[in-house]
Amino acid sequence: MRIWVYPGSFDPLTLGHEDIISRGAKLCDTLHIAVLNNDAKSPMFSVAERIDFITECTKDIPNVVVSSFDGLLVTYVKNINASAILRGIRSNNDFEYEHSMAQLNKKLDSNIETTLICANPIYQCISSSRVKEIAALGGDIEELVNKSIQKKIKKYFNRRTK
Ligand code: COA
Repeated sequence: MRIWVYPGSFDPLTLGHEDIISRGAKLCDTLHIAVLNNDAKSPMFSVAERIDFITECTKDIPNVVVSSFDGLLVTYVKNINASAILRGIRSNNDFEYEHSMAQLNKKLDSNIETTLICANPIYQCISSSRVKEIAALGGDIEELVNKSIQKKIKKYFNRRTK
């Protein structure tokens, strides 16, 4: 049974993340999407909201499980008997970052592998911060995030501007 973990902040989930999830889910038996519970990043959406967004957007992928974690990623991976960490790379910068993280995680637990998937070029420029910035300024996020969560993101910013 190949259990993989796709960790991240997902604040919020973007179409770029969804691309990695749908492709990664085909490579393993169960893909755990693990939302990092880390207030140091001052998230816009709570962990519960982010889990709801991801659950809604991945409801048609049967082997996806959505949860959260804190502490060391390798500890979480080991606790759920997963064998690999999945990450997406959009650019050389992402590669440098992911490469060093993969090496460190390997040092922490030599049984855990990291699999890197190259982002689809159409999603290469998307990041969660950009989505939030565009939505906050009233821009169109239709091509950046799933339809099912666009309304929730817009509602969040409408609430704040009233
Ligand atoms: N599509 C869209 N956006 C993507 C993306 C893709 N395919 N791949 C990365 N991104 C963006 C995210 O949207 C996010 O954008 P933002 O900075 O604008 O919010 C950014 O890249 C960072 O991605 P994220 O997945 O949130 O990574 P992170 O660097 O915050 O967290 C963890 C990575 C969770 C894997 C890492 O912090 C971790 O393991 N933490 C646990 C503690 C630990 O074990 N530390 C030791 C690690 S060696």
